[in-house]
Amino acid sequence: MELHMSDDLCLRRNIQLEPLVDLWYAWSHLISPATAARNVSERHIKIMKSYISAPTVHANAVANEQMRGGPFIDYAGKRVDEIHELLDRTVEKRRSLLELSKALADLNSTLQDKCQGYALADCYNLVPPALKGYVELVYDLNNAPSYRLIESLLYRSQYHSTETQTMMLSQISKDERPFILSTPRLPGQGMVHLNMPFHDDAIDYLFSAKTNPRSFTSMIDNCDVSERDCDTFRSFFTTETGGTCSSYDGKGARWRYFGHACILLEYKGVSILFDPILSYTYEASPSRYTYDDLPGRLDYVIITHNHQDHLLLETLLQLRHKTETVVVPRSNGSLQDPSLRLALQSMGFRSVIELDELQELEITGGAIVGIPFFGEHADLDVRSKLAYLVRIDGKQLMFAADSCNLETQMYRHVQRCFGDIDVLFVGMECDGAPLSWLYGPLLSRPLERQFDQARRLNGSNCDQAVEIIEALKCKEVYVYAMGQEPWLGYITSLKYTGESHPIVQSNRLLDYCREHGIAAERLYGEREVLVC
Ligand SMILES: [Fe+2]
Repeated sequence: MELHMSDDLCLRRNIQLEPLVDLWYAWSHLISPATAARNVSERHIKIMKSYISAPTVHANAVANEQMRGGPFIDYAGKRVDEIHELLDRTVEKRRSLLELSKALADLNSTLQDKCQGYALADCYNLVPPALKGYVELVYDLNNAPSYRLIESLLYRSQYHSTETQTMMLSQISKDERPFILSTPRLPGQGMVHLNMPFHDDAIDYLFSAKTNPRSFTSMIDNCDVSERDCDTFRSFFTTETGGTCSSYDGKGARWRYFGHACILLEYKGVSILFDPILSYTYEASPSRYTYDDLPGRLDYVIITHNHQDHLLLETLLQLRHKTETVVVPRSNGSLQDPSLRLALQSMGFRSVIELDELQELEITGGAIVGIPFFGEHADLDVRSKLAYLVRIDGKQLMFAADSCNLETQMYRHVQRCFGDIDVLFVGMECDGAPLSWLYGPLLSRPLERQFDQARRLNGSNCDQAVEIIEALKCKEVYVYAMGQEPWLGYITSLKYTGESHPIVQSNRLLDYCREHGIAAERLYGEREVLVC
């Protein structure tokens, strides 16, 4: 249908938004000041220096399947000058963040060297100036010295700058995207680079234009598009009206699988979206639900844990205009466990609720309950992870994400508290990355290889998942969060074959369920189920 207002246009449904920090693909650890400091100094700068000194080594590593997802820049050994410029600019612009990174390392070694069990009051004068007032020193019950960060103050300090947050817009028409976490996103043809912090309302105006026509002049002004980029920016819009939002108004509840751990649950006009990670809309196989298939309003967006494939800023920012409340697990204030609430609030999400283990959030006709999520974080003390039990209409659905069943007794306790589970969603990515892949920049010294390889981001294997199912007396089981869909490679870097361990393990689980009369599937692509 043609629109009447000549200035009103719709954003095309295949416009991709890449949020960037210092031109690196943004994820939550680049938002929280302390983790950002460590990632800039210990990941970005190191990778860029390595590329500048040996670009062909990077090109060869990227071409090697075995090294997928490793710390290598994917520019075929080219664009070295641009990476050099970015490195110089990062060192210049991020001076205070680099001081913070050094202060965190210094504080840690000072505590280990100087705090031997006496009162810590005398140690505050040893805290590096860059961190003074931002940490409380503590001992654990074994007399090991440590500290907790006052993150809320760090967000209101010179260490939290949105100046280097930008957005890259481009058109996407196929699933293949290069792995994004190891390569800074340099501007190129067909891209429009907007100097816009993530909290900017212009993002809401822009992405609501996928379904509601908006004034193009306002969008040019709001997004501060440069003269040079105007034509490309205009090509992102169309006079055709965009997709319509669909919502479920039938009997009972309906869930739809959008890929990975992204599930939309709807009932009685309430919509709950778990771990949003969505395909853009273009012709591709397998068929899938996309942004077009979301309702006009998301009552709850629920995050299970702080890994990039579950808390994906690219998707969250595009949904912000229709998101009422985000529910996140509460963190513990340590360096490795930054607050998801503070990160999301700094990105313009106004209503963010933190949930604890067994804490209930009342919702229309039921409740969402936080359930303990063990493992999958390389044995680090990370609390910002929850499975969720959704209790609606006499049904109990549990979304366990990447929970690794390290102790079945915990699930027996959960069953005792809440009863049998009707529907379980369980991840089985049981060959997770080693600790250093995600948390390496936060360590005070590199981990020995054998420890790094042993401590991984593993989900449950078959035996562990079977024990969850038995303990919770599940009636229906869906294996999900496998990172299998072809539109996820840019963030998961996974490519399975029939022999891949997670596939073999989940096949075994499906066999087990079949033999025991439990309905079970491994989700892939798209799926819709009515819960009556
Ligand atoms: Fe995970």
